[in-house]
Amino acid sequence: MRPAAILSQSIALLSFLLSALADSESLGLPGLPSKIYGVNLGSWLVLESWMLPQEWLDMGGQQCDDCSTCIATEFAFAQAFPDTVDKIFKGHWFSWFNQPDVDALADAGINTVRIPLGYWIIEALVDRKTEFYPRGGLDQLRRGLQQLHKAGIVAILDHHAVPGVQTAGQMFAGRCTNDVEFYTPYNYHRALIWTSVMTVLSHVDPAFANAVAIEAVNEPIMDATQTPGYGDFQKNFVRVVRATEFLLGVPAPGFPAIPAPANGNFTAMLPNIQTTAVFNDEVRSVLQDTVPILLKLGIFGLSRRKTPLVTKYAIAFFMDINWQHNNPANPADAQMGPQGYDNHLYYVFGGVADPNPTAYLTSICNLPRVQNDKVLGNSPLWFGEWGLPVQFETTDDFLRDWADAQKLAYSKGAGWIFWNFKIEKSELAGDMAREWSYLEGLRLGFMTKDPSKVHNESVCAPYITSAPASGA
Ligand SMILES: *[C@@H]1O[C@H](CO)[C@@H](O)[C@H](O)[C@H]1NC(C)=O
Ligand SMILES: *[C@@H]1O[C@H](CO)[C@@H](O)[C@H](O)[C@H]1NC(C)=O
Repeated sequence: MRPAAILSQSIALLSFLLSALADSESLGLPGLPSKIYGVNLGSWLVLESWMLPQEWLDMGGQQCDDCSTCIATEFAFAQAFPDTVDKIFKGHWFSWFNQPDVDALADAGINTVRIPLGYWIIEALVDRKTEFYPRGGLDQLRRGLQQLHKAGIVAILDHHAVPGVQTAGQMFAGRCTNDVEFYTPYNYHRALIWTSVMTVLSHVDPAFANAVAIEAVNEPIMDATQTPGYGDFQKNFVRVVRATEFLLGVPAPGFPAIPAPANGNFTAMLPNIQTTAVFNDEVRSVLQDTVPILLKLGIFGLSRRKTPLVTKYAIAFFMDINWQHNNPANPADAQMGPQGYDNHLYYVFGGVADPNPTAYLTSICNLPRVQNDKVLGNSPLWFGEWGLPVQFETTDDFLRDWADAQKLAYSKGAGWIFWNFKIEKSELAGDMAREWSYLEGLRLGFMTKDPSKVHNESVCAPYITSAPASGA
């Protein structure tokens, strides 16, 4: 290539980066669209068998009322079929999410995906004596990220199923069990190594160019008295992300100045970096434990790059403070560099509004969550999971209004991410896709062709009350 061509390409790249920066400056979050219109890629790399019941049976899984009592999760499956699990899951990973899905999402104007991931995607973290999960997910993640990138869609890497299981009796934890062990030093440590590896991949692996945010933990236990140490974990999560970036030569804004070692090899220098608030003993230990995993992945140490491959900072992403009760830690206290917050809202599980259309619309049209979080510094806020399911029989007209009203409410924050991009359509799955699948909702006319629009801007007019609705 002629020097002039290189120069003009560099200028084009530079102005692209600057405009990307300017676009997101209102939020201070480089890389994310200023308003998120997104979907979750649920049941892809963390399979929840309720969403694809027929495929699960065909794979060799089972269905039962209490998911801890049969082969209903990845853990139970891998334990039962150690010799075939990798091959069978590879088939699932290719068929559940692939180019036609990317094309459909791009056509639907989706600009962001949240990708639920298990800790086991970093295979070295799995204790194979007691833990059972399929192997090979990382290459699938690379494949999917690249397909999404070509379509202009950015990704949030969501640590959805963490080491030790974060909540009881849930398929989304990868293992359905009452034995919840996440809130221990050993498993916090493993989750932090995962975080460091993902931060490195986001910066140095070309396939991760569109991975802009890392979410610490999906849906921890809501009662904060049952999550000891979670506040310290939140702080260490951010420290690990920023310390890892610092080692890669991408010190985030606000990162304390530490003199760079002359030879630029931080793996070698790590022992000589003074212990600081950021490089505390746990963070240093996490970084030490990350290096051998990187070597296995073909990344040779944390060495400062002359030019970072991707000029961005990983956005640290947390469930908001109001996800928990009983005096929870505030993730805003952990902030160093770009950070965002996630709230999930499902009416179908009860406890939000009385089970009738008027109560639902009154609740959503007066939702105080964005303001309540902002007061506590949890801003910008996304609604990272929501859907159309309700506790009563619905008409198509109601579901259209219900989608509109939720989108309007969540857009008062930084946007929304629907659960899920798709749901199996089969006799066994019944009518589930109608309320749980974005693409089906679009086909049925509940969603709008342009996700930034609604069918009826005044859908909330009859339901706005002067006082904010309580309880939501
Ligand atoms: C950095 O230092 C580590 C530890 O001494 C060494 O293994 C690695 O090869 C070095 N990396 C580079 C790029 O020099
Ligand atoms: C929009 O919603 C309002 C409030 O329910 C209703 O009065 C109006 O008729 C709706 N408009 C359309 C075009 O459906």
